[in-house]
Amino acid sequence: MSRFLHPRFEKLVPYVPGEQPRGFDFIKLNTNELPYPPAPGVAAAAEREAERLQLYSDPESRELKEALAATYGVAPEQVFVSNGSDEILSFAFMAFCGEGRGAAFPDITYGFYKVYGALYGVDCDIRPLREDFTVDPADYYGGDRMVVIANPNAPTGLCLSLAEIADILRHNPDVPVLIDEAYVDFGGESALPLLREFDNLLVVRTFSKSRALAGGRLGFCIGNAALIRDLETIKFSTNPYNLDRMTQAAGVAALADPAYFEMTVGAVINTREDAAKRLEGLGARVLPSKANFLFVSLPGIPGAEVLAALRARGILVRHFSAPRISDFVRITVGTPEQMDKLCEAVADILDRR
Ligand SMILES: Cc1ncc(COP(=O)(O)O)c(C=O)c1O
Repeated sequence: MSRFLHPRFEKLVPYVPGEQPRGFDFIKLNTNELPYPPAPGVAAAAEREAERLQLYSDPESRELKEALAATYGVAPEQVFVSNGSDEILSFAFMAFCGEGRGAAFPDITYGFYKVYGALYGVDCDIRPLREDFTVDPADYYGGDRMVVIANPNAPTGLCLSLAEIADILRHNPDVPVLIDEAYVDFGGESALPLLREFDNLLVVRTFSKSRALAGGRLGFCIGNAALIRDLETIKFSTNPYNLDRMTQAAGVAALADPAYFEMTVGAVINTREDAAKRLEGLGARVLPSKANFLFVSLPGIPGAEVLAALRARGILVRHFSAPRISDFVRITVGTPEQMDKLCEAVADILDRR
């Protein structure tokens, strides 16, 4: 830390992203990317824009917003796009929280919520999940703080039903309720239909997982047009060209190929179900996931040891040291071949105990 850092950031603990190894020697199951490349038209679309990089990108992202609006049956004014959904979360904490306005979210969830809370000086009410790692909607009946729920939750993969999300919205009419649907395409129930009923709902999505564009950095959010305008105000006060030309074109091209999207997402869901059964067959505890990852604990082996043992066998997974979940590792669902290797490695680790 330099002597110039403002004292309000002295205690800030930044988010730690999963490891991105330089080579491709590892089987990479640690950051929930899709194991398949982007849709076939994406590279050509991005390349066309690469020829025009001397020009700024469209700060309104009109084509991309129109494509998203058509895909999800909403008006373009209800769509916000951003440099990864992380940036949307950041803008939402900036726009809707701060002095006198707090946020509420679970103790075990996406780690960035806590970081944004700390960054923007937000009073965060962190509610423990139930013993079985499910969210109790009644914990969010406060009504005076922005509610942030990842659905499916990360790193558990567990879901709330649409009725439970509606229940949370009904009890919070005067604050934004942000539902982070980064993983919803892998089997969760989207809150989008509730937009007709609730003007305080923001549904945050990403192209990083189900649309294979993690490296492109593209997130979007759908909600009431007034809430979207608030996010635009923050964006145009921060970085109007937050989405480069290539990423905007890549997003449009990805949306133009629904068949590829369905095929790759379907493959991941099938692989997930198969891998979950095999891991359970080996004696692992596997939470019922609706995401593109499995949250897994091996009998009698702490999660940190599982992480190290898999790494020694060339497989990267993710471990979180929070006490309630330190026995688990989060395993991204890869290709069937990668999951074969993962299951073999798990069997070997258990055999050597
Ligand atoms: C629950 C959740 N929300 C948001 C994100 C951020 O995704 P991105 O910024 O790549 O869109 C992640 C990334 O892993 C996530 O797990």
